[in-house]
Amino acid sequence: MSINVLNIRYSRMAFILAVLTVTLFVSSGCYNTKTGEVKVGGAITFDLPVFPKTGSHAVQVFSEMHYSPAYRSQEVPRILPPEGSVPITGAEVKVFDIENLKMMNGQAHSASYDALEAARVYEVNCQVCHGQNMLGDGPITTLSSARGDGSKVYDGAVPVNLVSERVTSLSDGEIFGYITWGGRPGLAAASRGKESTAIMPQFGYLLTEEQRWHLVQYMRDQNR
Ligand code: HEC
Repeated sequence: MSINVLNIRYSRMAFILAVLTVTLFVSSGCYNTKTGEVKVGGAITFDLPVFPKTGSHAVQVFSEMHYSPAYRSQEVPRILPPEGSVPITGAEVKVFDIENLKMMNGQAHSASYDALEAARVYEVNCQVCHGQNMLGDGPITTLSSARGDGSKVYDGAVPVNLVSERVTSLSDGEIFGYITWGGRPGLAAASRGKESTAIMPQFGYLLTEEQRWHLVQYMRDQNR
């Protein structure tokens, strides 16, 4: 026990001494940071490890774990899945051809439809623009800007009334396509291989395929 304590004490002293010596050599200018060569009074020369110059610390003396770079999950640099990987749930083939969209339906997802959950998804993602009753009168359309000069926060395209004939006469697949790509302008951009400049977000990147089909179903429910 006492020997151990002594050992620790000695090894700690030796460590401190080593650090002091290195610091002395480095600060007295006889340590070459590139080669690690140390010259003492022209008589003694020996090599020390070359300390890498990183960040704001020219000399990295400590090697404790909490000094080493640590990355949280999802933080860069991320290890991305290899090109062409398919999620275990199956990859969605994103369709932007309107004729193909017209033929699609959400039957594969109808069994898992949950009206309450769909209402929640609508409330979180769509209500701000399309409004509580889907009339295209969401809070964003009336909100005054913080400038206080009577100007509105939003002066873009009017969010479409989703219970109007214009939308109810569409097929499920078309509605799905517009949700996926960000309305008609978003879909038009996608079919031309362009970035969408539409105000409506491209929910194909934000919601799962299933959630988007459930929204179609939810919109239909509102019209019954
Ligand atoms: C930032 C505001 C905004 C949000 C959020 C938004 N939309 Fe839209 N949406 C629009 C606008 C504006 C249009 C009209 C097309 C355009 O000019 O971009 C539109 C168009 C549509 C259309 C096409 C209707 C047509 O006949 O042209 C559908 C369907 C639609 N939205 C559904 C949804 C659903 C479902 C959500 C939620 C998942 C949603 N939108 C979220 C603003 C929004």
